[in-house]
Amino acid sequence: MIKSLPNSEPELLKPGVKAPVKETLLTPRFYITDFDAVAQMDISAHNTELQAVVEELRADYNRHHFVRDEEFKQSWDCIDGEKRLAFIDFLERSCTSEFSGFLLFKELSRRIKDRNPLLAEAFSCMARDEARHAGFLNKAMADFNLSLDLGYLTKSRTYTFFPPEWIIYTVYLSEKIGYWRYIIMYRHLEKHPENLFYPLFRYFESWCQDENRHGDFFKALLRSQPQLWNDWKARLWARFFLLSVFATHTLTVFERANFYQSIGIDPRDYNIQVIDKTNETSARAFPVILNVNHPEFFERLEKCSENNLKLSEIANSDRPQVVKFFQKLPLILSTVGHLLKLYMLKPIDAESVRETVS
Ligand SMILES: [Fe+2]
Ligand SMILES: [Fe+2]
Repeated sequence: MIKSLPNSEPELLKPGVKAPVKETLLTPRFYITDFDAVAQMDISAHNTELQAVVEELRADYNRHHFVRDEEFKQSWDCIDGEKRLAFIDFLERSCTSEFSGFLLFKELSRRIKDRNPLLAEAFSCMARDEARHAGFLNKAMADFNLSLDLGYLTKSRTYTFFPPEWIIYTVYLSEKIGYWRYIIMYRHLEKHPENLFYPLFRYFESWCQDENRHGDFFKALLRSQPQLWNDWKARLWARFFLLSVFATHTLTVFERANFYQSIGIDPRDYNIQVIDKTNETSARAFPVILNVNHPEFFERLEKCSENNLKLSEIANSDRPQVVKFFQKLPLILSTVGHLLKLYMLKPIDAESVRETVS
């Protein structure tokens, strides 16, 4: 059995309002970018494709989807102990990352409105979707007598600056990995309804189509910018972002193994499936994808996760700082070594196979 991090009782800002989790490398980030550069982006090469994606976003297929039905109206005290804490943690993390998407898209749409109306409309539609997703998750938290103060979160979180190119790579990946995470969970629970302990999961099928459409928009945007896929630098960046997203995913899934086990999902299988599918999908947008079938690929990622769990254990212990430092050092070096070796693995050229997969 996989050992995850122990969940502690939620810390409160005020009664019923949960204090946001401490920011680490693995918690969802809040981004800002160079808004002027996005406003000036030349998208003419892919205008037709972008128009079509915006048309889809405008159609707002899920406008009646996020309505809480009768099944929510009951006490959820039956979900208790470890399972309750693990589920609250899942809700909070998901709500924060949906909300982070909302803030970025809203700001992009506001700042480029007059200069790039097509992109501004797309960002505004995506902000609409992410606000719904975050709001729906926050209402689910209220069923557990907690909520996230999203206004406080907006003001208190650190914002990371990413140039537009990095935003396009990372948001594309996070939308597509989000799609696969939701749909794989949904399909599993469809087959194993005995594990469906809360109605939220039933909403994931249509919900993930929003993420899929957001990903398609970023794919069109990425392909409209040749410098993001047509040279050796783009290939190196693509490998870097794919590996970063997959490594972060592995670490967070194993840290929260008990949540996945609570819905009958094997965390290892889930991680492999999500990464495999996201990597395959990325071949439609990225110049290269990773060779996830290489025998060392998941082995090394899982070694990084073992190191990460040991690092957290050391950080949470009451040993003296200097002891902690020397215990952590070999684990950090080992993780860096595994990541470097993974980065060096020969990637798969996606440009040459694109025609057959799209
Ligand atoms: Fe979302
Ligand atoms: Fe999204």
